[in-house]
Amino acid sequence: MAIRNIREIGEEVLTKKCKVVTEMTPRTRELIEDMLDTMYEANGVGLAAPQVGILKRIVVIDTTGEDPHILINPRIVETSGEQVGQEACLSVPGKTGQVTRPNYVKAVALDVNMKEYELEGTELLARAICHELDHLDGHLYVEKVEGSLEEATVEVEMDEEE
Ligand code: NI
Repeated sequence: MAIRNIREIGEEVLTKKCKVVTEMTPRTRELIEDMLDTMYEANGVGLAAPQVGILKRIVVIDTTGEDPHILINPRIVETSGEQVGQEACLSVPGKTGQVTRPNYVKAVALDVNMKEYELEGTELLARAICHELDHLDGHLYVEKVEGSLEEATVEVEMDEEE
């Protein structure tokens, strides 16, 4: 277990499409543990593998601090509604911006045992799922900000992530 270096906007690794995970290996398990450690250390609610420089389709999310979700090869299969709110990202330090996301999201992913499961979320969890999955295709929330990116003068809800 280790804290990994979080890559920041401007680094090419954050713009790449990540590769599908085909098997669970000790190395990938270690990556996932490190991603959780790194997310909690940074007080984030989500982290995607490219944010620690690894181009694999892996995301960790914990919006409550006691409910970690590990999503391997995740895909969104259903969305509904709409929420408008402030978003932030550990890879874009000190900034925040308004982004519209669905208010409900259902995703299908593999867990650490490579078993498929569904994760449903509303509000912050739905937002985090959308934000983190975007990272896997090389997209940052700043591309979706309505209006301008602002200085995060106060701790925002999605203080990354969020
Ligand atoms: Ni992010």
